[in-house]
Amino acid sequence: MQKRVVVLVSGTGTNLAALLGACADPAYGVCVVGVGSDRSAIPALEVASAHGVPTFVEPPGDHPGRDAWNDALAARLEPFAPDLVVLAGFMRLLRADLVTRWPTVNTHPALCPAFPGMHAVADALAYGVKLTGATLFLVDDGVDTGPVVAQVAVPVVEGDDVSSLHHRIKSAEHDLLVATVGRMLRAGYRIEGRRVILGAADPREVPA
Ligand code: GAR
Repeated sequence: MQKRVVVLVSGTGTNLAALLGACADPAYGVCVVGVGSDRSAIPALEVASAHGVPTFVEPPGDHPGRDAWNDALAARLEPFAPDLVVLAGFMRLLRADLVTRWPTVNTHPALCPAFPGMHAVADALAYGVKLTGATLFLVDDGVDTGPVVAQVAVPVVEGDDVSSLHHRIKSAEHDLLVATVGRMLRAGYRIEGRRVILGAADPREVPA
């Protein structure tokens, strides 16, 4: 039985595309059953539609406040009965009860807890770090503060600008997202304090 994932997006959708690519193999064990956004007319929604995945748009501006928007989002998520919600470039904070009801992971283009927020790549570059990366974490009620599920390091190279560095991060981030979401849903995970312990990798994932 495929595990059900809803992906929330706000932008380009390259992480979504990577997940959808993996889901094409039944052995991956995961199906993206829906894609939601806080804005219309973004490339990520076209990526979803091109794969025949149902989409919805729930703009915060259509609601009188954050609570009403979160309620509307919950009503959108409910019919999909997701096993996991994946934030893939979704630039909004979710109310705590949503991420309690549906386990939710976020992919962030930095090595948490460094450089939280919306401008992680620019912030890392401006700080002058030589190594940055991507983090997949379980969303809690903070900004990029939840328990880390997996991370990958990516070097900053001489002459990098935000675009070139983000491009390099994304290519590592796609692999991390696909491998980690698959493993979480096939093998399970548990949380001990701040540590997330993934179930055993299946043999094909163990490096030779
Ligand atoms: C990704 O790099 C993701 O980590 C980042 O937005 C990008 C979305 O790219 N998310 C954040 O910065 C969240 N704080 P995509 O739309 O091509 O997947």
